[in-house]
Amino acid sequence: MAQNVINTRTQGAALEGMKDQYADGKAAKVWEAFIGDKNSRTQNYKNFLLGVLRRKGCKRILDVACGTGIDSIMLVEEGFEVVSVDASDKMLKYALKSRWARRRDSAFDKWTIEEANWVTLYDDIEDLVGDGFDAVICLGNSFAHLLDNFGDQREQKLALRNFEKCVKPGGFLLIDHRNYDNIIDSGETAAKSIYYNPTHTTDIKTSVLYVSGKPALVTLDYLIDLSSDKEDRWVEESQVSEFRLSYYPHRLKVFTHMLEQAFGENSTYQIFGDFRPLGDIETPNFYIHLVEKYSSFF
Ligand SMILES: C[S@@+](CC[C@H](N)C(=O)[O-])C[C@H]1O[C@@H](n2cnc3c(N)ncnc32)[C@H](O)[C@@H]1O
Repeated sequence: MAQNVINTRTQGAALEGMKDQYADGKAAKVWEAFIGDKNSRTQNYKNFLLGVLRRKGCKRILDVACGTGIDSIMLVEEGFEVVSVDASDKMLKYALKSRWARRRDSAFDKWTIEEANWVTLYDDIEDLVGDGFDAVICLGNSFAHLLDNFGDQREQKLALRNFEKCVKPGGFLLIDHRNYDNIIDSGETAAKSIYYNPTHTTDIKTSVLYVSGKPALVTLDYLIDLSSDKEDRWVEESQVSEFRLSYYPHRLKVFTHMLEQAFGENSTYQIFGDFRPLGDIETPNFYIHLVEKYSSFF
């Protein structure tokens, strides 16, 4: 049963130290079933991401929220040189397993996977950054996991500055978040969207916590019914999986401003709603920000 009290982590996760909401392994275990498996991310999503990376001539990509490796694997398969990091060893375990299984393919043998936290990212992977990556990606509503522990968004700002330091001049950052403006207004979260295309019955219960009259935390209780999985890939003891994840509800305007502060006024900024130019879709599920870091050479 879903918990009735707001805990920001699923029961069983460590309550001290780095707040790894995936530490109990519950979400990691069923993550790909929730997403709809590796090949099921919508074609629009793949077209958009590959389109941007190829249009900009990218070769080296840093995936700062690789999780189970879903996007990184697609990029390795498409011929990019990929460095993947994540703070959760429970999630990384699945990425590492995939790399091991495909290690005889030289593209996978070269795939670098490290544990790193956005708040200390540049120090964590300085030796891998070199002159900077052509692109840094932070997708799948990952950034919103970084909560506002001090009430002034300082860790989120620090993380964005770390992302900026990993991008080479002329390179870019692709970062997304759910449409929290709509989640706050409607109190609901869509289970199916540009990223998540589950074939299993999935329900998401949404709770919004207000602090001093301001939305400070969105908690999503996910319920995934795995009983229809014909191959029994995900099923062990229980047919129904429940897990809870909490997010900082980024308002579009405020988040855009934080990005501008991190990358400076000379960089260029574009926003997409569900991969369409902003405004094309009335209420998109996701916003994606494309920030091109200023280079004095252009
Ligand atoms: C929603 S999952 C998305 C993973 C993948 N991009 C996808 O779409 O399937 C979010 C990931 O962000 C990672 N994460 C959350 N906070 C982090 C932090 N402070 N530093 C590094 N990774 C973090 C989590 O461990 C998790 O694997």
